[in-house]
Amino acid sequence: MRNFRWTQENEIFLGQIDAEHRDLFRVAEGLQQALEEQAPAATVKQHLESLIAHTEEHFSHEEWLMQSVKYPSYNWHKQQHDTARRRLRLFSPLIQAGDAEAAELFLEFLSGWFQDHTSLTDRMMAAHIRNYERSHTAAGLERWGSRAAVAEPAVNEDGPFPKTMRFCKACLGETTHEIRSRGFVCLSCAERSVSADLDRD
Ligand SMILES: [Fe+2]
Repeated sequence: MRNFRWTQENEIFLGQIDAEHRDLFRVAEGLQQALEEQAPAATVKQHLESLIAHTEEHFSHEEWLMQSVKYPSYNWHKQQHDTARRRLRLFSPLIQAGDAEAAELFLEFLSGWFQDHTSLTDRMMAAHIRNYERSHTAAGLERWGSRAAVAEPAVNEDGPFPKTMRFCKACLGETTHEIRSRGFVCLSCAERSVSADLDRD
């Protein structure tokens, strides 16, 4: 059964990644609703483009994180991302062309993939990242969990960091952000763009 509702079973206990997962689930649910309501083609296209953009940004973030902590199962994890990327590329034009059967198949695949990937693959990754943080920095746990620690200068972080444009809640506009292990950091105000209440470990 298709289900794009984020629940605690999907939680991986890395604040930033959990926030991105919730976002992804919300975007996928938006696409599902648009398809069910037989929204105009332009609306469906917007939802698809949003899903593609959110997915790519999120996968890139996870892959950069896994590489930065030398995650041994990186290839296995990335293969799963690549499968989802391929399906998105394959189905997106069919859905945009109004192929209802393709839309059904894709939503079925995506909901199963989200549930399986977050509840197993991402949890394994998160466990490794937490262990890595514990063993490599004294402030590791706080870096994932506390706003006070976030305000401290970065510890043992090697740049340069990948950059992306996203909305900054402090600047209230689209700004360049660096993707760091503790999340997206706005280069204009040095704030994280995800609010502290989304952080927990
Ligand atoms: Fe992942």
